[in-house]
Amino acid sequence: MADASSYVADTLIGADIDAYLERHRRKSMLRFITCGSVDDGKSTLIGRLLYDSKQIFEDQLASLEADSKRVGTQGQEIDFALLVDGLAAEREQGITIDVAYRFFATEKRKFIVVDTPGHEQYTRNMVTGASTADLAVILIDARKGVLTQTRRHSYLVKLIGIRHVVLAVNKMDLVGYDQAVFDAIVADYAAFAAGIGITAVTNIPISGFKGDNITGPSPNTPWYDGPALLDHLETVEIDVDRRAAGPLRMPVQWVNRPNLDFRGFSGMIAGGGIAPGDAVRVLPSGKTSRVERIVTLDGDLPRAVAGQSVTLTLTDEIDCSRGDVIVAADSPLEAADQFEATLVWMADEPMLPGRSYLLKIGTVTAAATITDQKYQIDVNTLEQRPGRTLGLNAIGVCNISLDRRVPFAPYEESPELGGFILIDRMTNATVGAGMIRFALRRSQNVHWQSIDIDRDAHARQKNQVARLLWFTGLSGAGKSTIANLVEKRLHALGKHSFLLDGDNVRHGLNRDLGFTDADRVENIRRVGEVARLMTDAGLIVLTAFISPFRAERDMVRAMIPDGGFIEIHVDTPLEEAERRDVKGLYAKARSGALENFTGIDSPYEAPEKPEIRIDTTRLSPEEAAELIVERVLGVWAPDL
Ligand code: ADX
Repeated sequence: MADASSYVADTLIGADIDAYLERHRRKSMLRFITCGSVDDGKSTLIGRLLYDSKQIFEDQLASLEADSKRVGTQGQEIDFALLVDGLAAEREQGITIDVAYRFFATEKRKFIVVDTPGHEQYTRNMVTGASTADLAVILIDARKGVLTQTRRHSYLVKLIGIRHVVLAVNKMDLVGYDQAVFDAIVADYAAFAAGIGITAVTNIPISGFKGDNITGPSPNTPWYDGPALLDHLETVEIDVDRRAAGPLRMPVQWVNRPNLDFRGFSGMIAGGGIAPGDAVRVLPSGKTSRVERIVTLDGDLPRAVAGQSVTLTLTDEIDCSRGDVIVAADSPLEAADQFEATLVWMADEPMLPGRSYLLKIGTVTAAATITDQKYQIDVNTLEQRPGRTLGLNAIGVCNISLDRRVPFAPYEESPELGGFILIDRMTNATVGAGMIRFALRRSQNVHWQSIDIDRDAHARQKNQVARLLWFTGLSGAGKSTIANLVEKRLHALGKHSFLLDGDNVRHGLNRDLGFTDADRVENIRRVGEVARLMTDAGLIVLTAFISPFRAERDMVRAMIPDGGFIEIHVDTPLEEAERRDVKGLYAKARSGALENFTGIDSPYEAPEKPEIRIDTTRLSPEEAAELIVERVLGVWAPDL
């Protein structure tokens, strides 16, 4: 590890080092993000800033030193070209580096550059990196002008709430420092920026490679009288206190209870400030109390504000756990379980309305489904386009429904309490980022009605236990045939049942749905809800749907009380189903006359641990039905 202090020491011989360090410590900090496409010259620009600021910090030096014998330990000795090569190489291998944070400082300020790889598919990284930035440098290649990528990045910058935007028109040397080129790009960008509500833009003509207008005015652009890039970064006003101005908001990260005498609630203050004696309210319960102490590793504090991580103790023993939010008593947050939100999709797999995702907001994780997409945004024209799904990098406005009420604030008011990410349940990957616009009114006004005559009461009267027998398998596997035989047997035993069959339900309730992934997800969601209501009526419900996706089968499983969901995999190999081809659909699919056919050009995800697996190459439908009835009666429902 190189020692950055060697540079400090060298330049401060005879000076008061403590005073220097103290001054350095007190300097304000600007976090900024650079947005550009692959060839816009981002590495060169970042290299130039690091190089010209002459204070390159530890991590940078370490990697560069390893790279070259020519590099000394002192910042000013580093070769510019080498530095840029180093950054570029890192970027190329950097597919794995999601977001790199680089530190540098000048006499006036300390800086963190959030550097994100620039390929289209790395929008995700930009969103991650930008959420804490004060300023965005939007980089444009003067030869290319404003691109789709520029518009997309700017749209995200606005959505994320970054207040300061610098339009750095780069590679001016390659257009002969032509003012007309610069002016045209600035005008083009200004028109777009105004359309999305970015009003204050600082436009700077630069050359990262040649160093024009980076640290001082360039003789090559006499027509430009604005600030050089670094001057602007050093002097732009950072609104650090913005968040501290509002009422207290602190999402509880964990409950700190080392012994019976101490119970503290730890987290980072997301908004406002707090002092001992202040009245607070815990959400969603709404219970109130007062702050007793503000505990930190460095001792108790008389006051704490947004950005600080603290542990609060309260004067009363009230319930408060991870995921709750402590707020100023007289300024509560709304809680809701349905929102309208802007969603940025970040996965190759498209967003599927109706699929259950995990949603993380503040310190809460909830189950979430997109119930309805209102429109997609075309980042070039800003047009609102219809569409039910979102592909990679697409931005849309959707309704989202959660499995519980969460305290929140609109993103515009509080990124901490209004920003969320969506996670795929199967792969655990982050697939989307969103910003809450507002809670849906219906979420406030429609409440679950508890009913006295419940599922068990209904089932008892029928002398049975409610169950959902979920048959899944390829088309032609034999689901309907077997389910039908099972129901006949149950009926003969005096049981009350109902069979929901794919082909039948698609004639009525789901006649608006086809066979795209999105439609299949919605098909199963609706069938799951109907089956749930029917089991609530005390029935033994049988369903025969291909239900090709694990995620939706698991979603239905989660709707039914423990043990009530019995997944039955009617396991017929594709070759066998195709050989039987009872409805002639496989032949059609093979000939290309039928699209999205399961097993041919649409996937089937076999259950990993079904309660029952039927191998139809070894059992006849009658044997299968017998086995199911026996196992259901014997193992899962002795009193069925
Ligand atoms: S699911 O995938 O959404 O669960 P579902 O079980 O409702 O499917 O419907 C499957 C039935 O629809 C099949 O048995 C077949 O008769 C018919 N069908 C028509 N087109 C397709 C297709 N492209 N893929 C699968 N089944 C199809």
